Amino acid sequence: MLRYCTEPESAAITVVVEGQPVPAHVDESVAAVLLRVFGADYRISSVDGGTRAPYCLMGVCFECLAEVDGVPNRQGCLVPVREGMVIARQLGRTEVD
Ligand code: FES
Repeated sequence: MLRYCTEPESAAITVVVEGQPVPAHVDESVAAVLLRVFGADYRISSVDGGTRAPYCLMGVCFECLAEVDGVPNRQGCLVPVREGMVIARQLGRTEVD
């Protein structure tokens, strides 16, 4: 279980994670929020169906893929949250338009 070292203060923002409001710090990454909410169940691999979680947190490994505002395959470690952002885990294969 991941937790803040300090709780969000009044300047914190709220994002929507799979339909639930979640407080977040300004400029916290999408990956950090999803790790805090789901831990090791961060995403499901489209290759073998196993669980995956962010590894490098610097844009190299692509283990942090998430859906952000309806757009799949975003690298969660590189996307800072903003007020009202809609975030979802990426559970398996995604459709490409
Ligand atoms: S955690 Fe490795 S690219 Fe995001």
